[in-house]
Amino acid sequence: MCGIVGGVGNINLREYLLTGLKKLEYRGYDSAGIAYYESSEVIVQKVSGRVSSLEAVVSENIAPTVGIAHTRWATHGQPNALNAHPHQSNQKLFTIVHNGVIENFRPLRQQLTVRGYQFHTETDTEVIANLLERLFLRSGSVIEALAQTMEALEGSFACAIIFAQEPNRLYFMKKASPLLLGVAKGAGLLASDPVPMVDYTSRFVDLEDGDYGYIEADDLKIYHDRVLVKPVFATRNVDLFKSDLEGYPHYMIKEIEEIPSVVKRLVDNYYDGSEFLFNRNMIKALRSAKKIHFLACGTSYYASKMGAKYFRPLGKSVLVSIASEWAYDPYDVSDDTIFILMSQSGETADLIRCQKIINASGGITIAATNTKGSTIERKATYSLLLYAGLEVAVASTKSYVAQVCFLALLCAALKNENAVVAEIDRVAEALHEVISRKEEIHDLAKQVTKNKDAFFVGRGYDFLASMEGALKLKEVAYLHAEAYPGGELKHGPIALIEPGTLVVGLVSDPEVASSIRNNFEELRARKAKLLIFSLHKVSSPEDAFIAPDVKPYLAPNVLVVVAQLFAYYVALEKGLPIDKPRNLAKSVTVE
Ligand code: F6R
Repeated sequence: MCGIVGGVGNINLREYLLTGLKKLEYRGYDSAGIAYYESSEVIVQKVSGRVSSLEAVVSENIAPTVGIAHTRWATHGQPNALNAHPHQSNQKLFTIVHNGVIENFRPLRQQLTVRGYQFHTETDTEVIANLLERLFLRSGSVIEALAQTMEALEGSFACAIIFAQEPNRLYFMKKASPLLLGVAKGAGLLASDPVPMVDYTSRFVDLEDGDYGYIEADDLKIYHDRVLVKPVFATRNVDLFKSDLEGYPHYMIKEIEEIPSVVKRLVDNYYDGSEFLFNRNMIKALRSAKKIHFLACGTSYYASKMGAKYFRPLGKSVLVSIASEWAYDPYDVSDDTIFILMSQSGETADLIRCQKIINASGGITIAATNTKGSTIERKATYSLLLYAGLEVAVASTKSYVAQVCFLALLCAALKNENAVVAEIDRVAEALHEVISRKEEIHDLAKQVTKNKDAFFVGRGYDFLASMEGALKLKEVAYLHAEAYPGGELKHGPIALIEPGTLVVGLVSDPEVASSIRNNFEELRARKAKLLIFSLHKVSSPEDAFIAPDVKPYLAPNVLVVVAQLFAYYVALEKGLPIDKPRNLAKSVTVE
């Protein structure tokens, strides 16, 4: 994953690079580093851990002409200061930050070693720096060295590069990892996403795979296959990329509390009071498609499972695949299939790989993302936004509800069922009440801080909600949590139930209520610590949290939020880094 940021020109580069890096920490936070040109040399400073530690060692009085910085999610080499970026070539001509993975770095390293290059780290990035240096020393041109380096590298890379002989220029190259340029007054900027740049500019250039070149304070040049190409400038609404804790202790709780307004905004964007506002050609294509195939990862995959349940009654064959697996076995790419790609970030590498496969075969994709201008959004046949607003906490919360409600709206549009809109509005109301009673959930969380494992059980829609609930507890509270359909317990997992084992039971649907209640009794008989989250209509007085009623097909939006709050408070009680859980990153840009 990793986040990179770079700039050249007349702005306070220390402030821009360090603040920008903090905004990119959601992409990884194992180590951080900065390099800048000042007083005839390139200075490199790196730390293991967070950007705040880096900030403490970078002098406040620097005034560089060009600088680059990096926050790392370790792929090759341990997450220590040595392996932290930036990395330098042997003669220190090139200093580089890199996001991506170089698949052939071992043979390249071997070839360079034979030619006398020495390597000091375990990273693939050091290979890029030295390869650039060698190719520059042979050709005498940085641009030619970049072109040759790109030809030699296999894998993914977004790189920002300082060349020690040109202190007023910042080089870059990109393939399969995100990178965009920003054009500010008196400065050229680049970063992995717009967020670090939005305080300086609203004018961006999205780079294509294979682009390389340089930026200067008042110029930029982009090359592709050795041809100079004309930059395509795009203006973005920078307010969409700004975020602040606004007094909340964590982004996760802030973003959970935003969910009712996210639901309302989504409805306003896709329904005008009498008609659905989806692209007509897309609706036509969906109606005539025989198959709908969802592709996604993580939370977006669980939201897609809900979508599949909505779409099946339309008489279509509906499949849901985990993107990283489908890419190995890409079946179903045919004229009568539409692929729906669900992604909060729009930059998930596994999904981008699937999209490339589908696009290469001429297939149709509908992308539902939360990020305008993201790779998946730009490369889809039809692109739709989730309007959840910037999600900063690594754990997805508001985007899950936005995705599920979006799919319910899309399905309603296909069926001309306008009544669905009022049912979704009701979800927003129910969530207001759930959030106003969050301290009840906090009290439940206090009871389980010593538990190491948890089971989530439910049937039907509640099983789908259980999967997302278990994921939240895993990632932010570090509990080993697994979801099972209630009916499956007796086929094995019940052997793991001991006195005190935490089981979270979800029940919302009258159709399955009596069967799942039987399962709860079986668990109670084995002395599990049972916490049941239910909807009012199917509740029982001993339930741990009873939420207001919504239609069963929308209930996961309510019960998942209860589970999100539960995970949040367990993590809070355990004193964990809620917004940046260990080993994770928000945007998973490596496969
Ligand atoms: C979990 C979480 C991840 C993401 C997954 C896909 O809370 O955030 O599981 O859902 O990495 O990311 P997107 O939706 O950006 O494609």
